[in-house]
Amino acid sequence: MRAIIPVAGVGTRLRPHTYTLPKVLLNVAGKPIIGHILDRVIKYGFDEATIVIGYLGEKIKDYVLANYSIRVDFVEQEEPLGLGHAIYLSRHTVSRDPVLIILGDTVFDVDLGTAAKSEYTVLGVKEVENPKRFGVAETSEGFITRLVEKPEHPTSRLAIVGIYYIKRPQLLIECLKDLIKQNIRTKGEFQLTDALQLMLDRGEKMTPFPVEGWYDCGKPETLLATNRHLLENQTTAVSRAEVVVQPPVFISPKAAVKHSVIGPYATIAESATVENSIIRNSIISEGSTVTDALLEESIVGNNAIVRGMYKRVNIGEASELEFY
Ligand code: UTP
Repeated sequence: MRAIIPVAGVGTRLRPHTYTLPKVLLNVAGKPIIGHILDRVIKYGFDEATIVIGYLGEKIKDYVLANYSIRVDFVEQEEPLGLGHAIYLSRHTVSRDPVLIILGDTVFDVDLGTAAKSEYTVLGVKEVENPKRFGVAETSEGFITRLVEKPEHPTSRLAIVGIYYIKRPQLLIECLKDLIKQNIRTKGEFQLTDALQLMLDRGEKMTPFPVEGWYDCGKPETLLATNRHLLENQTTAVSRAEVVVQPPVFISPKAAVKHSVIGPYATIAESATVENSIIRNSIISEGSTVTDALLEESIVGNNAIVRGMYKRVNIGEASELEFY
């Protein structure tokens, strides 16, 4: 079984981190995002993957080849012309067998085995407050009847969350080809949602698949929320002299942490140094140094340095002092 994972995007919303590191290599709960995705895909029996790389793609390739042994075909998307375009470029790696498409910036908790048993194409969906930002699915009697990418006036709150199990990949490729040939773009890009709508027009039956556990990694605040969720669901035994740990946390055995309070919800990656600091709800990436600092809701990039300072006060009775 094959999974296609498009990761060619530039990740503008996660700058400055994505100036030097592709989004999927950002560390959440002790592992790059793509590591969490591949672990899940492998767990559900997928043994082949196509990874569509582009921006900083060599780094992704190096990480995957060094850490995973399943068969992976890397496909290059030189220009990020849209998700539909990325999938179209992977066509030579796809046979007649069903494929899973899973976006590279989403960590999910979902039973992919159930989706893979369906007799129809299955799209992961979740009810959201603001469907305008998403591709949206309209349904009737258990089937998807219409798909619209980022609708101005949404008629459904079911957002497409980035997990697609495609029963007839050759039909999808045909639809993508037509989309690109006719230069049909939405918001300037060749959209997968538009190709899926063409599949519906050509008689493909699709069912929605409710995905409760859907954790986006596309923005700083959602990356931190995903970090929190993953830490809650993994146990990392840590006990260190001179460190107070408030679980859940991830502290790499290769991090140097001294005289600090870590957690809750802190990830301290490999080779990071943390001294005399309090860190919660934050990601401290590889090789970075944090000293004398109080950090909350923070992302510290690889090899970055944060130095805080202690305040000196001499205030008398009934004074009130606040530091922001
Ligand atoms: P996003 O829309 O989140 O794009 O793509 P992005 O570039 O990663 O992030 P922003 O919007 O600039 O902050 C969703 C997924 O589809 C991939 C992305 O890499 C991401 O995994 N994608 C998107 C491609 O592979 N190629 C594209 O042309 C567009």
